[in-house]
Amino acid sequence: MTEQGADHHHATHDGGTRQGEQRQQSAAEAWDERYGSKPQIWSGKPNPQLVREGGGLRPGKALDLGCGEGADAIWLAQQGWTVTAVDVSAVALERAARHEKDALDRESVHAGPEAIASRIRWEQCDLDEWQPAETYDLVSSQFLHGPQLVWQGPLRTAAAAVRPGGTLLIVGHHPDRLPPWGNHTAHEMFYTPAQLVQELGISAPEWQVEISTTRERAVTGPDGQEAVIGDTVLRATRLA
Ligand SMILES: C[S@@+](CC[C@H](N)C(=O)[O-])C[C@H]1O[C@@H](n2cnc3c(N)ncnc32)[C@H](O)[C@@H]1O
Repeated sequence: MTEQGADHHHATHDGGTRQGEQRQQSAAEAWDERYGSKPQIWSGKPNPQLVREGGGLRPGKALDLGCGEGADAIWLAQQGWTVTAVDVSAVALERAARHEKDALDRESVHAGPEAIASRIRWEQCDLDEWQPAETYDLVSSQFLHGPQLVWQGPLRTAAAAVRPGGTLLIVGHHPDRLPPWGNHTAHEMFYTPAQLVQELGISAPEWQVEISTTRERAVTGPDGQEAVIGDTVLRATRLA
């Protein structure tokens, strides 16, 4: 997602502070602090890879892991999906629910009352410990990075939550294509497409991989610097 204040897709999704500083804090504390430091962190726009890959899917039940301030979940709901949106930060979720309400209020100006019913369940949990109770037609994880987060476990949980016939969409920063600004000492927070495929066991006959690639994206830094970074993109369909 884009950080607020930048006109283009800006920013990294690395948790924002040095790894050593965050070690003592729980993920919830660290992220609540980060979200609490500004009225809004991300742009409010859905992530471009989600729009590109999710736009053509038939809506059903979706799970958004690490939903942050909610723009992806709200976009999915607007496309007709019923969404469960999960994040460790209560501050982010409160903001997300408020953004959803604002979006519904705007919609209600143009549509009848049944069009404004919420289609999103916001759920606070630590993905290090969480197991979903059901399966989904789409599981989306966009930039689920953080100094406290070891990505392999939560993203395996993400893959396991896709129902047969459903889609797994994971997008993150490529560790070798990070922006030149920011502090990226912890390269293990990020993943390549090959690492995702291997660590999550995304292979036949259980999975059909549609996209496993790195896509370039132009971004603008906090001081207006321009750069091209790489998004790791994995899209796969669960066959069985
Ligand atoms: C870089 S932000 C990305 C947010 C959103 N997906 C986006 O693209 O704008 C990472 C998100 O993951 C969440 N997160 C980090 N560690 C988590 C964990 N252990 N359990 C649940 N959510 C976590 C953070 O609170 C944060 O909202």
